[in-house]
Amino acid sequence: MTDHQLSTTSPEKSRADVVVVGVVQTDDGPRVAPGGEAVVAAYGEKRFAALVSSFEVTGKPGTATRLPTETLKAGTLLLVGLGPADALDPESVRRGAGVAARHLGNVTSVALALPAEDADHVRAVVEGFELGGYRYRRFKSDDPAGGSGSALSSVTVLSPIARKKEAATAQAVGRVVAAAVARTRDWVNCPPGDLTPPVFAEEARDAAPSGRGSRVEVTVLDDDQLREGGYGGLITVGKGSAAGPRLVEIAYTPKKPVAHLALVGKGITFDSGGLSIKPAGSMATMKSDMGGAAAVIAATYAIAELGLPVQVTAFAPMAENMVSGAATRPGDVYTTLSGRTVEVLNTDAEGRLVLADGLTRAVAAAPDLIVDVATLTGACVVALGNRVTGVMGDPGVVDRVLDASGRSGEQMWPLPIPEEMTEKVRGNSKIADLAQHNTERWGGALYAAAFLREFAEDVPWGHLDIAGPSFNDGSAWGHVTPGGTGAAAATLIALAEDLAERGVDGVTED
Ligand code: BES
Ligand code: MN
Ligand code: ZN
Repeated sequence: MTDHQLSTTSPEKSRADVVVVGVVQTDDGPRVAPGGEAVVAAYGEKRFAALVSSFEVTGKPGTATRLPTETLKAGTLLLVGLGPADALDPESVRRGAGVAARHLGNVTSVALALPAEDADHVRAVVEGFELGGYRYRRFKSDDPAGGSGSALSSVTVLSPIARKKEAATAQAVGRVVAAAVARTRDWVNCPPGDLTPPVFAEEARDAAPSGRGSRVEVTVLDDDQLREGGYGGLITVGKGSAAGPRLVEIAYTPKKPVAHLALVGKGITFDSGGLSIKPAGSMATMKSDMGGAAAVIAATYAIAELGLPVQVTAFAPMAENMVSGAATRPGDVYTTLSGRTVEVLNTDAEGRLVLADGLTRAVAAAPDLIVDVATLTGACVVALGNRVTGVMGDPGVVDRVLDASGRSGEQMWPLPIPEEMTEKVRGNSKIADLAQHNTERWGGALYAAAFLREFAEDVPWGHLDIAGPSFNDGSAWGHVTPGGTGAAAATLIALAEDLAERGVDGVTED
C-alpha cells in the first residue's frame, strides 16, 4: 500500500528519494515551473541554469531528466517538461505528473513539487501520477498476486494549499478518478478469453461499492432472460459465441438527485467481425471492444463513491462477436427490443446492434439525458486519429460533454449527424424497417450515430465514439500507458460533477 500525503514542505527540504519539479518553455528558454522555485534558489540561479543547459533540459512535454543531487535533501531531482509556459494548465500538469511516474526508477518515496497552487492542479497532479504509474501485471508470473510491481511506499504532493480542506478533497477525488480509469484499463487489458460476457458481468457486479450505504444496485440479465425479454440485438450479435451475452444494469440512487443521467456502454468482449470477418491485423486488438462498457461501469461506481447528487442508470450490453454455424449471417433480419426490425448487412457493425437495445432500456428509465460510449467505428479513427474522441448527438448534450472533457483533459471533438444519413438508415433496407450498415463507406461514424439516434427517441442524447482513444498500441505518452487507456471514464465523472453543480439546464437546447 502506498501512503499518500499533502504537505507545504519546501521541495529543497523534502527527504523523499526523488523530488519532481516541472520545467516550462518560454521565449527566453526553459524555466522552472511554479512549485519548483525553492529548488532553483537552493542551487542559485546561475548554477541551476548551467545544470539545465548541460543536461539539455528543454521543458518539452514528454521529457524527463533525472539528476543526482547534493544540493537538496533528496537524493535525486527529476525534471519533467510541462510545455509552453503560457499554455500551462491542469492537463499539462496531469501529463507531466504521468511522465514523472514513468521515470522514477526503483524508489520508495517521491515528493511532487509540480504546479499545485489550487485544487484543480492538486487533483491533476494526483490523477496524472497515479495513471502514469499504472501497470497491468495480472499475467506476469513474477507477480502472481497482481500487485503494482512498484516499491513506492510514499507519495507526497507539495502544495501551498496543502493544509486547506479543498486540497485534501482534491487529492481524494483525484484518487477516485484515477482508480476508475485504472479499473477501465484493467478490464480492457484483460485477455478476451478471460473476460467473456459472463465473466465481465460477474466482475462488474463484484466491483460495485459495497455496504448498505452505497446506494448502488446491480442487475445482470443472462442469455435466457435476454431471449425472453426480446433483446434482439444482444442475441443476434452473441449467437456465434460459446459464451452467452449479458446485460448489466447499474442503478445509483442518491438521496436528493438534481439530475438523472443514463449511460450506455458497448461491451463487445471480443470482435472477430463475425462472418464479415476482420483481417488478422485489425482483429489483434479487438479485446478492447468493451472499452465503452468498462468506462461506463467504472465511472458509475466512481460517481457513487464520490456521493454526487446525480442519479445514474447505466447499461452495459455485453456480447462476443464470433464465427460459428450458429452465427448471424449478412442478410439476416431481427427484431430489436424497441420492436423495429433491422436488416444486418455486415456482421462487423455489431456495436450499434447491442447499443440499440441498451438505448431502448435507457429511454425507458426516463432520464434527463443519455450518453453512450462505444469503440464504434474505424471511420472515426480515420477522421480524428488515435487520441481524439468523436462526439455526436443533440447539441445541448454534446456541449456539456465537450465542456466536461475540457476539465478531464481528454481530447474530444464534435461531428455532425447529417440528415442524409438518417434517410439511409430508414430507407436503405428493402425488407426491414432499418438498415444496419451503409453500402457507401464514407462518413461511417456519422451513419452509425444516425442509426443509434433512432433508439434514443426524444431523450436528449450524446454519443462518444472512442474507437481510437480507447487503446494505445504505441508507447506511453503523458499519463497514458500502453494498452487500455481508460478513455471516457474521467470525462463521464466530470460530466456528473458538472450536472451536480449546474443541473440539467441547457441539455435540451438546440
Ligand atoms: N469494433 C469495431 C470498431 C473499431 C475499429 C474499434 C478500430 C477500434 C479500432 C467495430 O465493431 C467495427 O468493426 N466497425 C466497422 C463498421 C463497418 C463494418 C461499418 C468498421 O469500422 O470498419
Ligand atoms: Mn465490429
Ligand atoms: Zn466492434
